[in-house]
Amino acid sequence: MSSHADAEYRTFSQTLRERSWPLHDEANGTGFISALMGGRMSRDGYAAMVTQHLFVYEALESVAAGMRDDLIAGPFVTDDLTRVPALRTDLAHLLGPDALDSLEPLASTRRYAERIRETAQWPGGFVAHHYTRYLGDLSGGLAVGTIVSRTYGFAPGGDGVRFYSFERIPKPRPFKDAYRARLDAAPWNPEERERVLDEVLTAYRLNIEVFAELARAYPAAR
Ligand code: HEM
Repeated sequence: MSSHADAEYRTFSQTLRERSWPLHDEANGTGFISALMGGRMSRDGYAAMVTQHLFVYEALESVAAGMRDDLIAGPFVTDDLTRVPALRTDLAHLLGPDALDSLEPLASTRRYAERIRETAQWPGGFVAHHYTRYLGDLSGGLAVGTIVSRTYGFAPGGDGVRFYSFERIPKPRPFKDAYRARLDAAPWNPEERERVLDEVLTAYRLNIEVFAELARAYPAAR
């Protein structure tokens, strides 16, 4: 079969993955992530990343709450994914419980969270941001959790790394397959699919900007 014919038989979820993969590699090749995965990031730097996650997931999960009954986005919303309580527990452990009320996002995080909140008016855009974070968390995120607990001495799945363990999703593979089937079944015409895809690329870029700002604030330990 020619590559042209192959392209015609791609499902939307396959196209999405394929077209966003270069930015996926860019995101996970950033200096900050390399340092984190190599055990060379300070504990303060890790805590700063968890802080940024809190602002991003507060935005995602507050928009999700309003999307529950939406015909298009509703099927993607499930409490099994909810991360804010785990992030708050991790931050209380990392920074102390009093720190939770005085956290501030980086400028790049503020932009990212604002962009997510704007999708409260656009179900397809919300799904794009939902996909970029949660499917990533259920993939490479699991490896990040293992390395982080080893680096900083947290019990696997315990306080400090609760974000990485999805207790209500013991088997990520079937969950991700069902998620991709939902992407393929969403009633989007080709123009809307293109807009959703573009928003996924935007979501990756916003993540890359957060990692870049984190790397400037927390240079890796040698
Ligand atoms: C340490 C860094 C990372 C590693 C090692 C990593 C690794 C992976 C791997 C191995 C997969 C494929 C899993 C599968 O076949 O089911 C994957 C999928 C994915 N990752 Fe990452 N990743 C990292 C960072 C990120 C970041 C920063 C994001 C976005 C913010 C992200 C978003 C995604 C998404 C959305 C998918 C699902 C793609 C799809 O199948 O449609 N990842 N990742």
